[in-house]
Amino acid sequence: MGAPGDISSLLALKHLQIQNIRNLQHVRLVELQRVNVFFGRNGAGKTSILEAVHLLGMGRSFRGSSIRSLISHDAQSCTVYGEVSVGETTHETGSGPLVTLGVQRELSGEVQIKIAGKPARSIAQLVEQFPLQVISADSFDLLTGAPGGRRQYLDWGVFHVEHRFFGEWQRFQRCIKQRNNLLRRGKIDDQELSVWTRDLAAAGAAISEYRKAYFQLLTSRFKTIMRQLAPSLEDLDLRYRQGWDKSLTYAEALEHGVHSDIEQGYTHSGPQRADIRVLSDGHLAADTLSRGQQKLVVCGLKLAQGQLMAEMGRGKCTYLIDDLPSELDKQHGELVCGLLASMEAQVFITCVHRQDIISVWPSSSQIAMFHVEQGELEQEYPDFLKSGTKN
Ligand SMILES: Nc1ncnc2c1ncn2[C@@H]1O[C@H](COP(=O)(O)OP(=O)(O)O)[C@@H](O)[C@H]1O
Ligand SMILES: [Mg+2]
Repeated sequence: MGAPGDISSLLALKHLQIQNIRNLQHVRLVELQRVNVFFGRNGAGKTSILEAVHLLGMGRSFRGSSIRSLISHDAQSCTVYGEVSVGETTHETGSGPLVTLGVQRELSGEVQIKIAGKPARSIAQLVEQFPLQVISADSFDLLTGAPGGRRQYLDWGVFHVEHRFFGEWQRFQRCIKQRNNLLRRGKIDDQELSVWTRDLAAAGAAISEYRKAYFQLLTSRFKTIMRQLAPSLEDLDLRYRQGWDKSLTYAEALEHGVHSDIEQGYTHSGPQRADIRVLSDGHLAADTLSRGQQKLVVCGLKLAQGQLMAEMGRGKCTYLIDDLPSELDKQHGELVCGLLASMEAQVFITCVHRQDIISVWPSSSQIAMFHVEQGELEQEYPDFLKSGTKN
């Protein structure tokens, strides 16, 4: 754990302004800390705060809600503006250089993203500046949902640690779209098909290699974390499925499958079919583990990604944890919080009562507490935390 003097170096998001996100009309947060807790009754606006932070880092809702449901009922647009520290911390200033981020989304669907005051070219730029991880009720989908969510999870990590990945991923998307368009056409030009197949094979093999290399590193972090979080779950394992027969190269798999691809009008095999299987004692975690155990596994998966990113010198990601105490007993709540605290990542946590988090978070930490009520926030400084809060 860093000494109190180091704290500013650990912050990612320093200031946040929110306008017209759900029930938050105007909210300004200027005293963000490494650990930020938002507590209050149901419907107060806690999850909406996390939605605002997520909009700032990803340009969209974390619950997959439409932009219409994110914008306050009586408004035409919503805006978030924040300052994040990036790069190495200098001793002179005690923090890294600051970059301003701004995202505005309109009912009409228009999106405006500004980074350091200049329009951004893509959301990828935003994601790179302010990496986020979410743990919420929807995160169970990582175990119980469709493979797409697990690919997204994996690709988030590869994107942040392997800078060549995104270009190949874009190339792969372009090639598969073109190849499928061609396959859907009645009369197929063999030469055109072989050109797209060749390019697809190259891009597909490249992204698959990046994913595999990342997955190996991730698995070892995940297992170490799970030994701490849930030692009773002994035989936890992750398996990667690349999306085609593993005895073949991707080019060979495409060649073998070309007739069925033509017959059915789309590309059957490839990284677009990849998946991760999370196993407990050889059985799918989704089928055998209790809800609480599943939450621990989800936390383990997300913490492993943050840890790996930091280890690889790619900075720290900020964690948004909606309703942290739900499904976790006190002992496991303490273990999750202890790991988050030791990672020194910035966290935004929601819960109903302030005690829900105070009782499980390591006591030496600096925590900013915000009471949320009807879309308004008030910062609170409990007595025992005063020595740890910013003066
Ligand atoms: N588009 C919207 N405009 C205004 N209020 C909204 C909108 N969507 C949801 N709300 C309201 O925002 C409130 C806060 O929701 P939420 O942040 O999910 O609460 P909680 O504190 O329980 O996490 C709810 O009372 C909800 O009815
Ligand atoms: Mg909520």
